[in-house]
Amino acid sequence: MNIGIFDSGIGGMTLLHQALVMLPDESYIFYADTDNAPYGTKSREQVIALVDDVMRFMTMHDCKAVVIACNTATAAAAEIMRQKYPVPIIGIEPAVKPAIKESHGKRVIVAATPLTVREEKLQNLVRRVDDTHLVDLLALPRLVEFAERGEFVSDGVEQYLRNAFSPYRLEDYAELVLGCTHFNYFKDTFRKILPVNVHMIDGSEGTIRQLVHVLEHKKQLERNGGNNREFDARVKYFSSGRELKGEQELAYIRKLHERLEKMREL
Ligand code: DGL
Repeated sequence: MNIGIFDSGIGGMTLLHQALVMLPDESYIFYADTDNAPYGTKSREQVIALVDDVMRFMTMHDCKAVVIACNTATAAAAEIMRQKYPVPIIGIEPAVKPAIKESHGKRVIVAATPLTVREEKLQNLVRRVDDTHLVDLLALPRLVEFAERGEFVSDGVEQYLRNAFSPYRLEDYAELVLGCTHFNYFKDTFRKILPVNVHMIDGSEGTIRQLVHVLEHKKQLERNGGNNREFDARVKYFSSGRELKGEQELAYIRKLHERLEKMREL
């Protein structure tokens, strides 16, 4: 059986990448809903309908668990999908709690899409864990556009981010939460702009740990000694329902994995 991992686009590969490292013996369906990206500037109702379509696809493709590798889709639709589909659904959320813990009393910026920032799920999470009001929420919608067109390092990206951070006194901050999976592609530019004391954190490792926990509990974990470490050997890639098989498409996916591997070190 497969593990389904999906996002509006290439951001979800952050979780696929993490899953391949932690669970190298599983088979994966990776689904990027590129025809409908971005999700983060859509309404809640639109995102629920799109996620429902992807969930139907996943259940038809023999998935034993589905990872919503999109903070926006998790915020808008995870609960509703859990009521509708019997398959375990694991959703990524901005790593607000660990960020507050690590910040030792300094401030925290949670960067995400406009819909995630608006959604009650994130607002409730912040209310629950931020008793001393250290958290600021920042919507960065354009990063998803940059990522989807493969523009990871450019003057445009740097200018956009410098502008977005200009209202903040960055020396007061200790943590930047990458609350959208697309943002991981830009860690080198974030690193360039942020003072060294600001650490970046995202929820991908915690989410895959949760996936491991769920599969272990259901006795559905595949383990055969990590012989399948080849990154794309056990993944089928789909772009809004169309399987990616072309030489060029797969070469681009390999480049994305390479970029994510580099970004993991920052
Ligand atoms: N990658 C998604 C997230 O984690 C959203 C990107 C989008 O706006 O489509 O929130």
